[in-house]
Amino acid sequence: MNKKKNMAIDFQDNMILLTRKYLKRKIMCPETKFRHHVKERTHILDLLKRTVDMGESNSALLIGPRGSGKTTLINSVLKELSSVKSFKENTLIVNLNGLVHTDDRLALKDATRQMQLENVVGDKVFGTFAENLTFLLDCLKSGDKKRSKPVIFILDEFDLFCEHHNQTLLYNLFDIAQTAQAPICVIGMTCRLDVIELLEKRVKSRFSHRQIFLFPGDTSSSEQPTSAFDDRLELFQHLLSLPDDENVNRIEQQYDDCTIDPQFGSVWNEYIKSLVNNPTMVNLLKRMYQIDVSERSFRNFLAIVVSMLSEKHQRLEVNDFVEASKMFSQDDKVLMLEGLSVLEMCLIIAMKHETEIYDGEPFNFEAIYNRYMKFANQHSSIQTVQKPVITKAFEHIKNLEFLLPTSGANSKVEKEYQYYKFLLTPQQIMEAVKNYPGLPTEISQWAMTTV
Ligand SMILES: Nc1ncnc2c1ncn2[C@@H]1O[C@H](COP(=O)(O)OP(=O)(O)OP(=O)(O)O)[C@@H](O)[C@H]1O
Ligand SMILES: [Mg+2]
Repeated sequence: MNKKKNMAIDFQDNMILLTRKYLKRKIMCPETKFRHHVKERTHILDLLKRTVDMGESNSALLIGPRGSGKTTLINSVLKELSSVKSFKENTLIVNLNGLVHTDDRLALKDATRQMQLENVVGDKVFGTFAENLTFLLDCLKSGDKKRSKPVIFILDEFDLFCEHHNQTLLYNLFDIAQTAQAPICVIGMTCRLDVIELLEKRVKSRFSHRQIFLFPGDTSSSEQPTSAFDDRLELFQHLLSLPDDENVNRIEQQYDDCTIDPQFGSVWNEYIKSLVNNPTMVNLLKRMYQIDVSERSFRNFLAIVVSMLSEKHQRLEVNDFVEASKMFSQDDKVLMLEGLSVLEMCLIIAMKHETEIYDGEPFNFEAIYNRYMKFANQHSSIQTVQKPVITKAFEHIKNLEFLLPTSGANSKVEKEYQYYKFLLTPQQIMEAVKNYPGLPTEISQWAMTTV
């Protein structure tokens, strides 16, 4: 009898561990399936198809904030195309990343490697960068048809390529694309909305000016218009659900070491469904969505919750979600404040008082300096420092953008007399004071006094 009971427990424990493994993979290693933005995806797909099928040359920029799905979009398009025979056999894809290829020489070297032309190039010495690139593209000409193999250049973190000397790589790629010397398609991905402004004039004039924007939460172009938040709820349920009966075979193939008992799976899924209808849960998700729409941080949040599962903790409680959400909804400014020095913290408190007294009016360095000195002189335990040190601390606060100069940066006002608007709220300061480890009591009391 006991043995049977033990086996049941083992089974249950095992299922929980498998569930954790399966869900973590599902959340953190997303398939290349791309949702929404149908119009934008079709646009990119068409461009690539035209290069491959008709030998046209194109260039485009895919622009969207971090985590908006740019990379996922491109990967899904490439995956779709890779099932087409002519594409698979004939097209070369060169992936470059601005974070890795920090200058054009590195980029070209890697492009050569990805085009498998290292042997051909060998120790050849080229006069210019353009000659080298043209040689590479010439190498791709297939003998009889006199036609080059189509090449797709994917430039991730595109804006960083704009910092390269003379923007040589960009100039040449766009030039080749514009004059259609060889069928190439140049696709840049970036989160800089103003990326066009970063291009030098001669580069800009060669770019097709095709800009495709991806904004998260924009589900208007999906087949069934749903509200953006409903979509998030759906994703929540999808990411936390185990494969149901009909999908189980397909999933098993994919995750062959995660075979989850269908009955266990359906009980689990029912529970997840009940979470989606739980008002506390929905409110929490809504609040998080208002702070951050990015799917990447949402997935990170779910991964944290799922990792709480264990033999001893077999169900995801609403409270687990609440706990994990605390990590994500923290105010960045409060976190930054907690990293300041004690002196800088004192200046922040002086700024708080100054703004409270003068009802949000701008202040200058002198006012804050005097207020701080008055406090320091009244408390013998506070070590006073020389004025230049305080000026430096003030500068640091300014550089962290807690202060906004009221007159333009070019104005001729002397530094000490420049007026600033304070960009922190009293709540943010009090929160940081509360969390600051080892802040002297006099200082926290000073923060609390109302003036
Ligand atoms: N429309 C979408 N369809 C499917 N997954 C998406 C979508 N949008 C975002 N994601 C998911 O969000 C995460 C981040 O997406 P991705 O890496 O593509 O963003 P990105 O725009 O390339 O960001 P970065 O600028 O940081 O490179 C991935 O886990 C991805 O699966
Ligand atoms: Mg990306």
